[in-house]
Amino acid sequence: MKIDQASIIQLPKMLDQRGNLSFFEGNKHIPFDIRRTYWIYDVPGGEMRGGHSYSKNEEFIVALSGSFDIVLDDGNEKKTFSLNRSYYGIYIPNGIWRHMENFSTNSLAFIAASTDYNESDYVRDYSKYLSNIDAKS
Ligand code: TYD
Repeated sequence: MKIDQASIIQLPKMLDQRGNLSFFEGNKHIPFDIRRTYWIYDVPGGEMRGGHSYSKNEEFIVALSGSFDIVLDDGNEKKTFSLNRSYYGIYIPNGIWRHMENFSTNSLAFIAASTDYNESDYVRDYSKYLSNIDAKS
């Protein structure tokens, strides 16, 4: 997968004096069926999360609160996306190496995933990730 297949997706925003509301639906606002959701919170200052790729799993990540950076790497090119609003997120196709960093205090990362949790879908070794890419090209 190439990095330019990752994209920022703007979500619907229902502006309301009572408080704003945003939402997303699988296969409508994001390009896959949602199979699983998880969230990352209480990240101590300076910590990183991620540091892996998935063979099959696709994800959509929103900063529901606070801010953090998503660093993507397709083995050829690196790109950093800063998430800091709850009305947009980033779609990350499978096959892209990523990590998350620069979490602000009280940040909350919400992730929708296309597959069940499956440890064997992870590629956690960067040199293995690169050699998988070489084998495919
Ligand atoms: P991991 O995906 O390695 O965290 P990150 O990439 O965000 O740093 O997950 C951390 C731990 O949580 C790992 O032991 C697996 C477990 N886990 C589940 O059991 N189910 C899930 O859906 C997720 C995302 C993680």
